[in-house]
Amino acid sequence: MIVLGIESTAHTFGVGITDGKVELANEKVIYKTMGGIHPREASQFMSKNAHQVLKSALDKADLSLDDVDGIAFAQGPGLGPCLRVGGTLAVFLAKQYGKPIVGVNHCIAHIEVGKWDLGFKDPLVVYVSGANTQILGLAGGRYRIFGETLDIGLGNAIDVLGRTMGLEFPAGPKLETLARNGKRLVELPYTVKGMDLAFSGLLTASKKLVGKVKNEDLAYSFQETIFAMLVEVSERALAHTKKKEVMLVGGVAQNKRLREMFENMVKPHDAKFGSPKPAYNGDNGFMIALTGWKMFEAGIEHDPKDLAVKQGWRTDDIEISWH
Ligand code: ATP
Ligand code: FE2
Repeated sequence: MIVLGIESTAHTFGVGITDGKVELANEKVIYKTMGGIHPREASQFMSKNAHQVLKSALDKADLSLDDVDGIAFAQGPGLGPCLRVGGTLAVFLAKQYGKPIVGVNHCIAHIEVGKWDLGFKDPLVVYVSGANTQILGLAGGRYRIFGETLDIGLGNAIDVLGRTMGLEFPAGPKLETLARNGKRLVELPYTVKGMDLAFSGLLTASKKLVGKVKNEDLAYSFQETIFAMLVEVSERALAHTKKKEVMLVGGVAQNKRLREMFENMVKPHDAKFGSPKPAYNGDNGFMIALTGWKMFEAGIEHDPKDLAVKQGWRTDDIEISWH
């Protein structure tokens, strides 16, 4: 079965195609902005580019829409106006070409594509993007959240500190380079509450030190502290669930120091650690196509009438009946 998947939750409009065995296409355009994302502008950018991305994905796969057996799209969570661009296109294609359709959860798709890339079966998932910070794992047929941020996402915290330092957005890669040359560890607030994390105290204290402490030392101290908080909670979740795989996904997963800390953490637990390749860590259409493919194969199909977008859709709302 060949599935075409559409991603449009935030800044990326992507179209991916798969037959469940290989990636046949994974095309995308990314709406770039300096500060926070403006939902309406992002959605207009998507509408303008949607046709071209769809066409290049089909060209890449050397297929026409008639060859596609099912349509999948990211139904949520995300920004309403953006979600509706992908949703409207998906429903139109399904009706026009008489194909079945499924609405896919974007966060689950990040997990599915990571598992596919790494060959993992049942990992503890650490999802760290701009907006999200969650530690999840499959338990009783759902992805349960073992720990999460109580305020902002980890990537967001990095970007805000970076902006205060005068780094361009997104600040993650630049802060990582600075941190590599840091020597002095400055003590900063470390806030772990049970299994949850809070970053705003650490962020406020760090922002106050900009200009007083060398940027390299501040970047180093900030990374060491915020990553240690994340690794601590992840280790407790690992010890509790006794899973044998740990998977780091999302934009912040690019960070080499964070990966190194996770590699060291999993060793005494006799677990494997991995993170998918960059093209799959960022938002993309292939992950939606792949998850849609698994859902179709498991017999799931949605009525286009029930496919209103779900901006705040939670990962633990979904029963995972496929594998
Ligand atoms: P989602 O909708 O999944 O939450 P998002 O747009 O919030 O997506 P991603 O695109 O997954 O986030 O990730 C972007 C974040 O990753 C930014 O905050 C960016 O600073 C951070 N990032 C990117 N590279 C690095 C790095 N090397 N080190 C740390 N953070 C990084
Ligand atoms: Fe995402």
